Amino acid sequence: MNVFSNEITRLFNIEKPIIQAGMIWASGWQLASAVSNAGGLGIIGSGSMYPNVLKEHIIKCKAATDKPFAVNVPLLYPNIEEHIQIIIENKVPIVFTSAGNPKSFTSILKAAGIKVVHVVSSSKFAQKAEAAGCDAVVAEGFEAGGHNGREETTSFVLIPAVKEKISIPVIAAGGIATGRQMLAAMILGASAVQIGSRFIVSDEASCHINFKNAVISAGEGDTELSLKKLTPVRLLKNKFYDEVKSAENQNASVEELSTLLGRGRAKKGMFEGDLEEGELEIGQACTQLNKIQPAAEIVNEIWGEYNALLRSFHK
Ligand SMILES: Cc1cc2nc3c(=O)[nH]c(=O)nc-3n(C[C@H](O)[C@H](O)[C@H](O)COP(=O)(O)O)c2cc1C
Repeated sequence: MNVFSNEITRLFNIEKPIIQAGMIWASGWQLASAVSNAGGLGIIGSGSMYPNVLKEHIIKCKAATDKPFAVNVPLLYPNIEEHIQIIIENKVPIVFTSAGNPKSFTSILKAAGIKVVHVVSSSKFAQKAEAAGCDAVVAEGFEAGGHNGREETTSFVLIPAVKEKISIPVIAAGGIATGRQMLAAMILGASAVQIGSRFIVSDEASCHINFKNAVISAGEGDTELSLKKLTPVRLLKNKFYDEVKSAENQNASVEELSTLLGRGRAKKGMFEGDLEEGELEIGQACTQLNKIQPAAEIVNEIWGEYNALLRSFHK
């Protein structure tokens, strides 16, 4: 059997350079363990979890897989210190930090023997992550679902730009949902891909079925990077998005936008399935998604298509 190996599969001790992104309200232990069991790297998204909930997910993930998995820690949420402590105490092997300064926790995690990856949306921040001692970066382009950079740099431009500026491995994210897109990202300079939106429409994703169905129905132009004054996030267009758009058109202040966002919007939309009032985060790749399927099948389809296309180039 031909065993694939590159700097990322060796770094994480995984079989396939396919990483399921940490996603609030969607990526708990069920999704993470399913992806890790399929040979990729599953990530528990801690951004929507209280510390005791995170601990429970880590324990359940360990029981469900003997393969490596990671925890994503968005540095903009509360409880970060408690999350880091739980991660260290429970010997999680890999942490993906995002939305903050990579200097904050990298050295503490590395001292505990944990591999650290930081998510960036520019080559300047990629250099900062390398200087902070990270083992790799995720270069996340404009197409991606969730929170994103203000600069709007697309994956096609960002991946080679980051690759040129740093010597640690680059993981590409944003607009990757198929083996064809994965191959393009690898040719641009990535050693692995981080995929979010496609795993939203997996059986194991813990988000609401209404949200999954809305993602399947979405097409080109149905998402937009919004709330750039506050924290830029790619939203699926709905009533809440319309309200944001109209406030932004009237030049709403940061305070007014914060009030409009309020608390619990993301939970309302993605976890409770309120498609009108809730915040729905999804990437441009939603246009390519047309069914809900097991996470392992997603990993295997992407990996199979990637390898078939790669072979076809040598014919
Ligand atoms: C519903 C949703 C929630 C997300 N939540 C997080 C999060 O909690 N932390 C984070 O670092 N990124 C988050 N992201 C971004 C993903 O980690 C990933 O980088 C992105 O989805 C990749 O682009 P793609 O959606 O085109 O695959 C989220 C994305 C989505 C779609």
